[in-house]
Amino acid sequence: MQSSDERQDEAGDGAVDTARDTLSVTDNRTGRTYELEITDDTVKAIDLRQIKVNEDDFGMLAYDPAFTNTASCRSAITYIDGAAGVLEYRGYSIEQLCEQSNYLEVAYLLINGELPDQAQLDEWTHLITIHTFVHENIRDFMQGFRYDAHPMGMLLAATGALSTFYPEASQVKDAEIRDMQVIRLLAKIPTLAAFAFRHSVGQPYVYPDNDLSYPGNFLNMMYKMTELKYEPDPRLERALDVLFILHADHEQNASTSAVRFVGSTEVDPYSSLAAGVAALYGPLHGGANEQALRMLRRIEKVENIEGFLEGVKAGDQRLMGFGHRVYKNYDPRARIIKKHLDEVMDVMGKSPLLEVAVELEKRAMDDDYFTSRKLYPNVDYYSGLLYEALHLPTSMFPVMFAIGRTSGWVAQWLEMINDSEQKIARPRQVYTGGRELEYTPIGER
Ligand code: ACO
Repeated sequence: MQSSDERQDEAGDGAVDTARDTLSVTDNRTGRTYELEITDDTVKAIDLRQIKVNEDDFGMLAYDPAFTNTASCRSAITYIDGAAGVLEYRGYSIEQLCEQSNYLEVAYLLINGELPDQAQLDEWTHLITIHTFVHENIRDFMQGFRYDAHPMGMLLAATGALSTFYPEASQVKDAEIRDMQVIRLLAKIPTLAAFAFRHSVGQPYVYPDNDLSYPGNFLNMMYKMTELKYEPDPRLERALDVLFILHADHEQNASTSAVRFVGSTEVDPYSSLAAGVAALYGPLHGGANEQALRMLRRIEKVENIEGFLEGVKAGDQRLMGFGHRVYKNYDPRARIIKKHLDEVMDVMGKSPLLEVAVELEKRAMDDDYFTSRKLYPNVDYYSGLLYEALHLPTSMFPVMFAIGRTSGWVAQWLEMINDSEQKIARPRQVYTGGRELEYTPIGER
């Protein structure tokens, strides 16, 4: 970085030098020009600090509420091209992974950076499978919740509580210890999620069945009743596996950023992931599919679509499950879920709302209001229908999201821990309050 006082017009002809990867910034308060380095289309916010009106000035800050235009890290995990509707994990398209892979292999890919060979995958799958049980005290802890506790609140608390069962997890600089917690998190989150569900519907908790696949065991813990051995339908197993893959990572969203933020304090990964679950509990993050489903229920039948769309265009309401901050094209995840919906409904029964959803999408896609604003279905448009077909209450929707996202949270947490550029997260503020006030005793106010 150079200021204009140092920087010269090297050719001496007054022409602007366009060959450098730098940004020239002129501070009109002082008339000084600064040259900031550009790397990967970014400038370092800390380079702004040299911009001062005088020596006592703290220096300029970047102001970015909600971090909508700030890259907080360098990451090699997930690539999104919102304009083209592309989502890739470690360079592999989401379409390929959903077609050819399974969730545990994708989790390995996200966490280790490359696809496993057969022996690595077998060992990984085995390790995760044998760690699905939770300590009986965790079970008792969960049973202490009120009968109608929200399963996401239970998952949030239970994820954090795991840290008290594995105190060694606080040694986040120890790679071997970290690896063990990664296995435990992937293995136990579905168990906690299923216990939370069974609690919320007043049914006994079902222990893991380690003969089953990852999604098969989850279905077992969710739905097993009196049968001696639960046999998952392969179509449901596959649909769940795909759903977990689709939700596995989505770069620096609110919950992932929460995991990284809390993790930057070097607290154990259970506490960091609990922060991710907490962020996902919020309706703006994990709740849009519930809103989409409620909307379809309100519309109820195809004949009501026209009136509904008129209302949307008049600004009375939004078409939930449409539009995305990043995707300005068809969200690739929505297309994949749609493909699996029919299969799930073949097993569980057709929902009359599917016809409404398909027709509503078709009409919106033919309507200039939506196409001109680049509003296309997002992942939440069809996922609520899929969860409903699995007879899940809406309170379980964010819990399902959290199971899949665990692999992404873990991958991002590990990347942060190993990134020498990262340190404890500590944003700045623009202070807008009073200063140096005189304290007035309470009786005189
Ligand atoms: N229905 C109708 N109109 C919409 C919708 C929608 N779903 N989304 C955006 N618009 C309109 C806005 O009214 C605005 O129109 P205008 O230019 O005439 O004022 C224009 O499109 C741009 O809207 P913004 O809100 O600026 O778009 P943004 O990118 O900020 O919003 C968001 C993205 C919040 C997702 C929005 O599209 C929305 O509210 N969608 C419905 C909720 C939803 O499905 N959320 C899930 C997102 S996916 C996820 O979080 C996993």
